[in-house]
Amino acid sequence: MPVSVKPQLSQFALDVAKGLSQKQKKLSPRYFYDDLGAALFEAITLLPEYGLTRADERLIGLHAAKIIRETGALWTVAELGSGTGKKTRRILEAVSNLYGSTIYRPIDVSSAALAACERELSGLMDVQPICGDWMEGLSAAVRSRQSGAPLLLLFLGSSIGNLDREDMVSFLRQLRSHLQPGDFFLLGADLVKDKVAMLAAYDDLTGVTAAFNLNVLGRMNRELDANFDLSSFAHEVRWNIDARRIEMHLRSQRAQSVCIEALETIFEFRKGETIWTESSHKFTEDELAFYASLSGFLPIHTWIDREWPFAEVLWRAV
Ligand code: AVI
Repeated sequence: MPVSVKPQLSQFALDVAKGLSQKQKKLSPRYFYDDLGAALFEAITLLPEYGLTRADERLIGLHAAKIIRETGALWTVAELGSGTGKKTRRILEAVSNLYGSTIYRPIDVSSAALAACERELSGLMDVQPICGDWMEGLSAAVRSRQSGAPLLLLFLGSSIGNLDREDMVSFLRQLRSHLQPGDFFLLGADLVKDKVAMLAAYDDLTGVTAAFNLNVLGRMNRELDANFDLSSFAHEVRWNIDARRIEMHLRSQRAQSVCIEALETIFEFRKGETIWTESSHKFTEDELAFYASLSGFLPIHTWIDREWPFAEVLWRAV
């Protein structure tokens, strides 16, 4: 008798099952970034309301040479969540101008973004993309290490803000555990600013961020055979003043049942109930320095963008 074996559930399916079974339904923001989500995020970075990426780029454009003079010659530049690597070009140019070509290891979950990154930057450096989870990618990036020269790890665009605040120090300690004393970490972090500007950045008039948020429902339809009706969920953005974060939710516009075939489960939504899809924490300069001291780093320098308060911090692993 042939035995029917159920196909193993993907991590995405397992996380959806867990997240949608909680009282406050929740999904990890990492699931925004299928190829469509990664393209929508690229569009977000061009929105007039979303000043964050431009601030990051301005700081790097202005200070890349100073940053790379601080680090000295490098064995490798690795980057967590590189996307297409657009922000990183100026850093790599500074490395190449000051010390000659080195290896660039972009780490990202989107293979489409990595392919674009390789196309964009391979004229400048030896680009060795790593597709996958950040921490596993970082471990792979440092595995072949022989040189005594330091590594520069980049984590730009305030992606750190998408972690839960209570997980940030353990995340930074985990990063640190892959580094050697003398390695450098360049972190981009969005700062607390005017509430109206912060809310508009996540609720743009063109509706790109709403599409980015709703795409996670589309992704469940495509990959998990779900039957979410995207038109019956609304994009919602809140500023949580106590937790200093923007929260994105998807609010069910009516009572509805959604079937996720891959999980063989029906999930019930009450009218007005939300799925919490993302937190974007905002920081203060002091808080960032405190995180450095708790996770084995020494702050070397901080650069701030005054137009869109945003910090680029350079830390050294101790
Ligand atoms: C990737 N990350 C830093 C973005 C942010 O601002 O939290 C993701 C994003 N979500 C909505 N707009 C942009």
